[in-house]
Amino acid sequence: EVWNPNGKYRVVSTKPMPGTRWINLLIEQDCRVEICTQKKTILSVEDIIALIGDKCDGVIGQLTEDWGETLFAALSRAGGKAFSNMAVGYNNVDVNAANKYGIAVGNTPGVLTETTAELAASLSLAAARRIVEADEFMRAGLYDGWLPNLFKSPILLFFPDRFVGNLLKGQTVGVIGAGRIGSAYARMMQVILLSKSPDVVFSSILGTYGQFLKANGEQPVTWKRASSMDEVLREADVISLHPVLDKTTYHLINKERLATMKKEAILVNCSRGPVIDEVALVEHLKQNPMFRVGLDVFEDEPYMKPGLSEMKNAIVVPHIASASKWTREGMATLAALNVLGKIKGYPIWGNPNQ
Ligand code: DGY
Repeated sequence: EVWNPNGKYRVVSTKPMPGTRWINLLIEQDCRVEICTQKKTILSVEDIIALIGDKCDGVIGQLTEDWGETLFAALSRAGGKAFSNMAVGYNNVDVNAANKYGIAVGNTPGVLTETTAELAASLSLAAARRIVEADEFMRAGLYDGWLPNLFKSPILLFFPDRFVGNLLKGQTVGVIGAGRIGSAYARMMQVILLSKSPDVVFSSILGTYGQFLKANGEQPVTWKRASSMDEVLREADVISLHPVLDKTTYHLINKERLATMKKEAILVNCSRGPVIDEVALVEHLKQNPMFRVGLDVFEDEPYMKPGLSEMKNAIVVPHIASASKWTREGMATLAALNVLGKIKGYPIWGNPNQ
């Protein structure tokens, strides 16, 4: 799909993106916009090289694509100046390779902060109150009337506890990776759920918490910074993961660390799948039926490790944390602005190098 065919600058988007604002602002600035409409969900490096072609000023890409040396070299050969991920996470982008070829890299922070935090909060609540299991029970036509206790009906042999879950009020919430999204999640959990407000525990070792508070003028009065991540894992009843995925956070939650968590804890991951050792997690879920997880991301996305889909104590959703109309349109707009900024010589919005 091509917009403004005679535009001076050629900008390629590897996927159709929501809304038209991003297209209009590129067109207004004399760009020819080419949108790949291939039906494939995940484009290969070869597909993208073909899209870049001989002349390309900038590309807007997706988190499913492998933006490494090969693609940045191809973009540089085509005279490209800029690449933006339509995502805040950029673990799929080799920023050093981009720097080597003189290509600016952008991401889309900000617009997805609240949306992602809302999903993490939703998963925390849904896991605590076993909403998905209860929904399945209802749809299967198994509900035979309200009961206060166990084993009163033959059906309940398979559902002996009638979805009794955790009361979150007064519990301790831990955030690992307390940056923009982690802090927004903590604020939501604090307001909605916590009666003992000082018990929101932050990990200080991974986040940029201090910088965030300074930038936003918020006061950390009721938030406690944990002395270590292990303290968070040990003490929190609900833990939400929000670190950036890099070498230091790969398999951050492994067998040993899972073993230090409370037996009835809830673990939520809306960051990146490989932050958790998913094989170890499946084993932990099997051994600890009261331990629950809410996962938006997976180690081998789009696949789940064997056994995960059978676990009743896991809620799994397909990477939808940023999936609100406003947010996705905002991400598309920011990604376009990033690329345009570099082409036109303006500062770019989201820049992992900063
Ligand atoms: C991101 O932006 O990094 C999310 O994973 C998708 O919105």
